[in-house]
Amino acid sequence: MISMKPSKILEAMPPYLFTKINALKKEAYQKKLDVIDLGMGNPDHPTPSYIVDILCDTVKHHKNTHRYPQAKGMPKFRKNVSEWMQKRFGVSLDPENEILALIGSKEGIAHLCMAYLDRGDYFLVCDPAYTVHFNGVALAGGKVYPMPLLEKNQYLPDFSKIPQKIAQKAKFMFLNYPNNPTAAVVEDNQFWREAIRFCKKNNIILISDNAYSELTFGDYTAPSVFEFPGAKEVCLEFHSFSKTYNMAGWRLGWVCGDKRLLYPLEKFKSFIDYGMPTFIQLAGAAALKGSNSYIKELSQSYEKRMLKMSDGLEKIGWRAPRTKGTMYVWASLPDFMRKEGSLSICEKLLKETGVALSPGAGFGKCGEGYARISLVTHDRRFHDALLRIAQFTKKYQR
Ligand SMILES: Cc1ncc(COP(=O)(O)O)c(C=O)c1O
Repeated sequence: MISMKPSKILEAMPPYLFTKINALKKEAYQKKLDVIDLGMGNPDHPTPSYIVDILCDTVKHHKNTHRYPQAKGMPKFRKNVSEWMQKRFGVSLDPENEILALIGSKEGIAHLCMAYLDRGDYFLVCDPAYTVHFNGVALAGGKVYPMPLLEKNQYLPDFSKIPQKIAQKAKFMFLNYPNNPTAAVVEDNQFWREAIRFCKKNNIILISDNAYSELTFGDYTAPSVFEFPGAKEVCLEFHSFSKTYNMAGWRLGWVCGDKRLLYPLEKFKSFIDYGMPTFIQLAGAAALKGSNSYIKELSQSYEKRMLKMSDGLEKIGWRAPRTKGTMYVWASLPDFMRKEGSLSICEKLLKETGVALSPGAGFGKCGEGYARISLVTHDRRFHDALLRIAQFTKKYQR
């Protein structure tokens, strides 16, 4: 066997957040432990049947969809995205030039970094953040400048704390609200206006990752960044089918924005992929024409789970405020556990009780002391998960 090292960049990367947790989960299953998996944000609800039916029908009866697809997205897909953005946010996008289909937004975000970054370029990334926001930058050889998301600031970054020298060097700023992992939402639209102003002033592209735009609770509705004046000049926005339509395994999303900002990604992707299979794009196009009541019911289901988990955790000493969106609860570990670190606590919890959570530290330094709970198991399992976490907490304290 020859010996060959991977690239220095890859070698320097720590293993992906879920690699360790998945290995422990496998171990737990082998030991016949009853695992309650609240780790990965992997929706448990099935894809709605009207979408599955379109896929099956298309694959069976439209053989031309078996050929190579149109990489940037077929016209019908881009048209339906444009109509959805208009109907949902009142935002006008030219389907021909301002929408690009993606193999899920994770792929798009990682490749956007590669399309734009030169070695040593700075990116402004929230800490904690969805992992591809910082891993995408690192894989492209860029430098992450972390913007802390602190509880006392409602998990919003403070732009005034970014040194001018860094702002001048930065190419991108990533924002993601409703937020993974903190589940924070932006309630004051002034925040978006400030972000746009900051990016315009410093010649930075503002990336809005809007994967959870539809998963919001009560009266709260999430905006698109393009609803705010001047956004088109500096912003790109990512959307995903994974959470809105429970299509995580289908791998479909889109990015939209001005043609000039979008084009480098389209060009980059043209060298490495052929885009999404046409039948998946057609099913996605049909999904966007579905009824709003399905999305409302989905959000209500997450809200119910959030209330159960959040209130239950508060009762046993884990601070876990109620949220207004996403499919997560961001829980602060009790003080007596914090010293040990979130990774070790989550490992012990999984080994001893079978409950899998995501350690906050996996999302960035500022995530230390927290755990993310994904609300992705059957409703009746949450009670059991809470009981086990309560027992673990009591035993730990003794
Ligand atoms: C903030 C955020 N963006 C993007 C994604 C990935 O979405 P997709 O499945 O479309 O790649 C996720 C998945 O968890 C996410 O949390």
